[in-house]
Amino acid sequence: MSIHTKKVAKKVTLRTIAKMKGVEPITMVTAYDALFAKLFDGHVDMILVGDSLNMSFLGKDDTLSATMDQMIYHTQAVCNGASLPLIVLDMPFGSYTSKSEALKNATRAYQETNAQAVKIEGGKERANIVKALTENSIAVLGHIGLMPQFVRADGGYRVRGKEKTDIDLLIEDAKALEAAGAFAIVVEGVKSEAAKAITDAITIPTIGIGAGLECDGQVLVWSDMFGFFEEFKPKFVKRYCNGAELIRENLKKYTSEVKNREFPSKEYIY
Ligand code: KIV
Repeated sequence: MSIHTKKVAKKVTLRTIAKMKGVEPITMVTAYDALFAKLFDGHVDMILVGDSLNMSFLGKDDTLSATMDQMIYHTQAVCNGASLPLIVLDMPFGSYTSKSEALKNATRAYQETNAQAVKIEGGKERANIVKALTENSIAVLGHIGLMPQFVRADGGYRVRGKEKTDIDLLIEDAKALEAAGAFAIVVEGVKSEAAKAITDAITIPTIGIGAGLECDGQVLVWSDMFGFFEEFKPKFVKRYCNGAELIRENLKKYTSEVKNREFPSKEYIY
């Protein structure tokens, strides 16, 4: 079995992830419930309980109204379903506006779920928050580049790292997060040259989404990659299957069998 298809056999820890930089690409997907977390268990290195659930599960237009209670509820479900991947709870918008607010909420994440880390969006302006958490024994995954929690303030989603000046800013952000103790950084929606420059500039792993091949790992939102979220498809999303179509076809079969009194047939009756 090649390294690229092997199952993850042991619990993935922060140390495992640190050692993978430059050795083996890190795989990460999102999950929001125990059912899918169980399907992913042993097949990916990390699971992110992303605040993207606010869009794909709750049907909102952006992630901004996700709450700490919501993130805790879904992370508990994911932890019930998966035991091997490193599980990260995404801190929602407004839950880390100050060091004390961040500490209070991230402490809840550790005490009320089995997540091993939390994720925070922001670069050098958030380094003090990241430091406050890591100094209090809470592991942090950073998130720079295109940051969905900034969508209203930025007036939309914008690909980053097109010019040298912006690449330099992103590198500064990554270095500040590394110095603050982040164990890895999600790099979203940046030109691949920028992602490479960031990855080369720091010693902790980068996990790309819409950031090309040069990151130390990749993350995708499960409902995007399996074709369940149909509202829009960003260029970087590869649909590995058409989940929505599969469900529609089979739902049609079910409803027609019920209408025609074919289901339940003998084998499904006590
Ligand atoms: O919320 C989320 O799913 C994320 C990923 C896009 C990285 O932050």
